Amino acid sequence: MTAIYFDPVCSDEQRRALLYNGDILVYSPRPSTRAFCEFARAMIREAFAPLDPERAQFSLPVERFVAILADLKPRFIHHPQSKALIRELLQEFGCDPEDTYFDVPRLRTMTHGDYLRAGIAYALHPHRDTWYAAPLCQQNWWLPIYDLDVTNCMAFHPQYWAQPVRNGSSRYNHYEWNRTARGSAAQHIQTDAREQPRPEEPLELEPELRIVCRAGSVILFSGAQLHSTVANTSGRTRFSIDFRVASASDLAARYGALNVDSAPQGTTLWELRRVSDLARLPEEIIRLYDSTAPEEGREYVPSVAADALAT
Ligand SMILES: [Fe+2]
Repeated sequence: MTAIYFDPVCSDEQRRALLYNGDILVYSPRPSTRAFCEFARAMIREAFAPLDPERAQFSLPVERFVAILADLKPRFIHHPQSKALIRELLQEFGCDPEDTYFDVPRLRTMTHGDYLRAGIAYALHPHRDTWYAAPLCQQNWWLPIYDLDVTNCMAFHPQYWAQPVRNGSSRYNHYEWNRTARGSAAQHIQTDAREQPRPEEPLELEPELRIVCRAGSVILFSGAQLHSTVANTSGRTRFSIDFRVASASDLAARYGALNVDSAPQGTTLWELRRVSDLARLPEEIIRLYDSTAPEEGREYVPSVAADALAT
């Protein structure tokens, strides 16, 4: 059973327990999430000016659209203000700044129709982030920058929370992916040949769960939750922010969702930074998840839009 909690009143610890149980949490816009979305909207507006960003795809050749995103996305990801806004947001949500670690935020785009179906705005097949070397206690924080529509949101498949799916995660090596595949996302416009972990058996995806909410809301879910991108037929490009969060004490205790079917190599933990001072996780904690990480490729620095885990 998966429950959806709207604006739950609970501590961060209780919230994490809900996520590890497969529940999904939805929060209404609040000052820190509004500020983050407004910051993103301002950068997006400027990048597409004088066009309306949600409809710019209808007046731009796809190559021009990709070029704008290839410039915009890394600037957003690396902007010092993006990190500052996440730190404020997590503290407003009651996360302990000494125990909470986060990754740089990704700016995602999902265009209407067949305009752009690969690479930089990759429409993602059903997946768990844990297939991509996320820890089982990863929290996915996901914010729509414009109001969502039922035809441009994301979908959850909670019937697979406790049910294994045959998948290609055992062939996924996170460091290899960092070294090679992601940097070339902008070169993939209509097809995407990058090997990604995907389901390797037919899935029962209906009924799927779509959560439709206003700009600045938060959809919070476990990285072990099976989710996918809805084919966008809304007539508008979807823009969203997401970032990954984990608690050091949960990581140290190996507390999190059950692992039903993830077997990737490596870990994303090298990329997380502490809310209080941007320090990396203690290496002894990371080593619990990977005792043999190579120096090269352990930390991914997105140079081009990092849409590996789109949605
Ligand atoms: Fe994902």
